[in-house]
Amino acid sequence: MANRKGIIFPFRSKLLKAKNPYERTDFVNRVAVVYWSGTGNTEKMAELVAEGVVAAGGRADIFTAAEFTKEMVQNYKALAFGCPSMGVEELEDTEFEPMFSSVKEFLKGKVIGLFGSYDWGDGEWMRNRVADCEDYGLTLINDGVIANNEPDDEAAENCRALGAALAKA
Ligand SMILES: Cc1cc2nc3c(=O)[nH]c(=O)nc-3n(C[C@H](O)[C@H](O)[C@H](O)COP(=O)(O)O)c2cc1C
Repeated sequence: MANRKGIIFPFRSKLLKAKNPYERTDFVNRVAVVYWSGTGNTEKMAELVAEGVVAAGGRADIFTAAEFTKEMVQNYKALAFGCPSMGVEELEDTEFEPMFSSVKEFLKGKVIGLFGSYDWGDGEWMRNRVADCEDYGLTLINDGVIANNEPDDEAAENCRALGAALAKA
């Protein structure tokens, strides 16, 4: 006949070993990848950033600039924003710039990565974006990944590395 100890303690230790129902074993870092692209180059970069997120064990949610809203920011700790150089070394001004202006204040305290494609310039638009974000007090994980037109192997690798870094942020 089991004594009190024999009944209670094995049972209790079994309970203690049982899985804590509140422990999230399915946890992955969700990263938002938000982009605008006119001819597909920055879109390709967004896909590569997402690839890097997934390869590092995270989950990437890809949105176009038109789909993303300030209410969505709270779902993410890390976000990547991609926009090509448009205007004269500027952001695309009908969808990306208005979206970014509206979400900016909610990005404080988040980890942000920037990326985008350009053509004839030297990446000035990205340097300006990085400076603007830093002046505003945002935490940038990089100096902005840039690709001259379609991402070549080096730019592709930089995009994947950005995704991996955001997944681990
Ligand atoms: C209206 C317009 C303005 C542009 N202005 C610049 C610029 O100032 N500097 C630059 O390097 N490239 C500029 N570009 C080139 C684009 O940045 C380049 O084609 C880029 O690869 C486009 O990316 P996407 O395919 O994601 O749209 C401009 C392109 C367009 C259509």
